[in-house]
Amino acid sequence: MMGNQAQKLEELVASTTKESVKKSKKTRFVAITSGKGGVGKSTISSNLAYALSQQGLNVGIFDADIGLANLDVMFNVKIKKNILHVLKGEASVADILIPITRNLILIPGESGDEILKYSDMALFERFMQEAQVLDKLDVMIIDTGAGIGEHIQMFLNAADDVIVVTVPDPAAITDAYATIKTIATLRSDIGMIMNQVKSEKEASAVFEKIKKVAKANIKSKLDLKLYGKINADIKVSSSVKQRALFSTLYPNSQVYKDIENIVKIVMSKLERDMLVSSNESGLSGLFKRLIEHF
Ligand SMILES: Nc1ncnc2c1ncn2[C@@H]1O[C@H](COP(=O)(O)OP(=O)(O)OP(=O)(O)O)[C@@H](O)[C@H]1O
Ligand SMILES: [Mg+2]
Repeated sequence: MMGNQAQKLEELVASTTKESVKKSKKTRFVAITSGKGGVGKSTISSNLAYALSQQGLNVGIFDADIGLANLDVMFNVKIKKNILHVLKGEASVADILIPITRNLILIPGESGDEILKYSDMALFERFMQEAQVLDKLDVMIIDTGAGIGEHIQMFLNAADDVIVVTVPDPAAITDAYATIKTIATLRSDIGMIMNQVKSEKEASAVFEKIKKVAKANIKSKLDLKLYGKINADIKVSSSVKQRALFSTLYPNSQVYKDIENIVKIVMSKLERDMLVSSNESGLSGLFKRLIEHF
């Protein structure tokens, strides 16, 4: 697709990865996406990132929702510079990182479409030079936008885990299914989180329905897995309004238990992966995987 550019990029990756491999560990990239907007991606991303950091992991959360970046609101922090400034060369990656807790950092996105002008080579080159700052992260949660644009597809391709969030209303289920169908052309393992459900039972019923339709209609190999559910709870929406995480306001709630169950799944995958040695570490590893798809 990019020809010459891809080759240049490959050389760049090769030269940067060599040193970083030695001193860094592998970061697990978890992309959170959805078909329909407003189903709870940012709420889940921020609370999941926080809960993972409570387990002692170094966690990053990247606001990749181009056009609608709003994780600063979720975490109630003020952002001066974001990823666009890095791409323009006006800031380094280290400059834009916002510490949330001791082991949780936010990588702010840009809530406009100017960033789209800086895609492709510019984005990759600037990132590759800077990416090593982030290599100490154990997990990076990527909050993508809804629907599947070209930019989101890159993340979905390269991530270790892709999780499609849906709520149980028919329109959202239809959009989630369409998204799964598209992602299935990129990869076979896809996770799901059922948000705003009444019970475990409702979550598995909706999941089984989607799985059944997928099995009958999607021809490629598909390993669809339910990561968990989050109950519909006013504590969630009121926390968002208060610009706080429900995980910090209500650590004894059912919804926090729901998040903790999802944490267990992400962590078990992380541990399993640590047993398998890999020479792809940190962001450099992610970008190496990104270019393999050009
Ligand atoms: N489990 C829940 N219970 C109650 N309300 C919820 C729950 N999850 C999310 N919400 C509400 O839904 C709204 C949308 O959530 P959120 O912003 O996380 O969705 P999103 O998928 O990131 O949206 P967008 O596509 O616009 O980025 C939030 O204001 C929140 O109050
Ligand atoms: Mg969002």
